[in-house]
Amino acid sequence: MPTWRRLAQTSGDAVIIALDGPAASGKGTLARRLAQRFGLPHLDTGLLYRATASALVEAGERPDDERRAVSAARGLGLTDFDEAKLRGRAMGEAASIVAAIPAVRAALLDMQRAFAARPGGAVLDGRDIGTVICPHADVKIFVTATPETRAHRRALELASRGEKVDYAAVLEDIRIRDRRDSGRASAPLMQAMDAVVLDTTQLDIEAAYAAAVAIVEARRGQLSL
Ligand code: CDP
Repeated sequence: MPTWRRLAQTSGDAVIIALDGPAASGKGTLARRLAQRFGLPHLDTGLLYRATASALVEAGERPDDERRAVSAARGLGLTDFDEAKLRGRAMGEAASIVAAIPAVRAALLDMQRAFAARPGGAVLDGRDIGTVICPHADVKIFVTATPETRAHRRALELASRGEKVDYAAVLEDIRIRDRRDSGRASAPLMQAMDAVVLDTTQLDIEAAYAAAVAIVEARRGQLSL
């Protein structure tokens, strides 16, 4: 396992790897695999917004009800995620609605920063990790791909979960979510100035993973100079 300890710049010995990017860009899979490779804990921050949305939908509330959404966000733990339920198409859309509420983002901030501050560090993926949650992350990767490629991947993923999908509808979802996530006032999706862009349009998962590892290794090289 790589020795990060003497290289870390963030909090003491900790090393933080931040991955951001739009829906179905591949950041979640890459984050999971990087975490495994470097022996770090991983937080998929999208699950926090999906779980908040799910609590509202299950209670029959609207996802844009600020008071309820904040209270649902405050009640979340880091481990109680039913991924089979949360990863569905409808929950991605509802998550992006709750995620546009500044008070919801504020309610989830400390939890994410506390995760990032674990001894040894962490890998986090989301939309605002490199810009807002961990602006001092040691490694920042902005993962992207064309909307068509992402819609194709998401349609395959949803079908493998047993969800009936229509490619055109998934592409439309992706476009709506891109617009909402990038256009919101609070912590919009955007590339941090010091992030390395990884465009996975032409890459399968193994090639994307190899490219992500190369970015991390190159950064280690810089930090050790
Ligand atoms: O898997 P996918 O990329 O489709 O979505 P996700 O990462 O699970 O995130 C679902 C929604 O939560 C996104 O569309 C964002 O609106 C929101 N989100 C966010 O605003 N900030 C984050 N750090 C993570 C997710």
